[in-house]
Amino acid sequence: MTSAETRHEPGRQSVARRLLDSSETLSYDPVREVDWQTPLDETHHGASPEWSTLYGTPYWAELTPAQRRELTRQEAASVASTGIWFEMILQQLMLRDFYAKDPTDPAFQWALTEIADECRHSIMFARGAAKLGAPAYRPRRLVVELGRAHKSFASGEAAYAAILVAEEVLDVMQRDWMRDERVAPFVRTINNIHVVEESRHMKFAREETRARLRGAGWLRRQINSLVVAIASYCIVTSMVSEKVYANAGLDPRRAVREARANEHHKSMLRSSCAGLMEFLGSAGLLTKASAWVYQRANLL
Ligand SMILES: [Fe+2]
Ligand SMILES: [Fe+2]
Repeated sequence: MTSAETRHEPGRQSVARRLLDSSETLSYDPVREVDWQTPLDETHHGASPEWSTLYGTPYWAELTPAQRRELTRQEAASVASTGIWFEMILQQLMLRDFYAKDPTDPAFQWALTEIADECRHSIMFARGAAKLGAPAYRPRRLVVELGRAHKSFASGEAAYAAILVAEEVLDVMQRDWMRDERVAPFVRTINNIHVVEESRHMKFAREETRARLRGAGWLRRQINSLVVAIASYCIVTSMVSEKVYANAGLDPRRAVREARANEHHKSMLRSSCAGLMEFLGSAGLLTKASAWVYQRANLL
């Protein structure tokens, strides 16, 4: 170990080094890997139907197969657009975090690698949403402004645990979609690329969350747990824009009403986030107040 390296915590350093090695072995260039040329085949879904916000509702039962496919294509495009919004936040969180830090630290080099991944992901999601025939979906105004504040001021565990939540929530959906033959092949490729590269990001986010919380006092834990929970609420409730229903040719009022009451979708979210909640609990980030927010977001 050189003298420059001994300045850093050895555990954190070896994790970052392993992530760098892994990224060198297996990373993707979406411009080349994804089939952007073949026109969209409308016999495909955009997401696994079971993940549709309307799946299992009376409205879903009335939809024709073509309407269901158009709905999941709009929903997948909305998830991708929300992904872009959040990836822009997390790139800024990490850039700010590593500002003027030691470039010989593997964690520094990993952070830049992760930012480069996210930049490619956002371009990939943008092209994917366009190919799905979707307009720009953005979170509602209040959430956009809360995100602006978070990306400008959040640090430590408030930054890394929020990053982790966004990545975990996307991960479970995308693992289902990438294996599903009903989903358009180019969407499956996009999800596959994202799942592989994000598994390294999640590892880093977990490590950083734990490391930053070491020695954190009661008050700081209380405050940051709540910040992360509110960030999670904003992310999860922004995933599928309410505008998807009109764009899929549905009655938006009825669709929003039935989607909000959809117990099937809520239980999909809850069960997919069980591992994440366990981690937040073990890290000491599941306080009474934050648990209340997670329940409102149907994550707990
Ligand atoms: Fe990403
Ligand atoms: Fe990521």
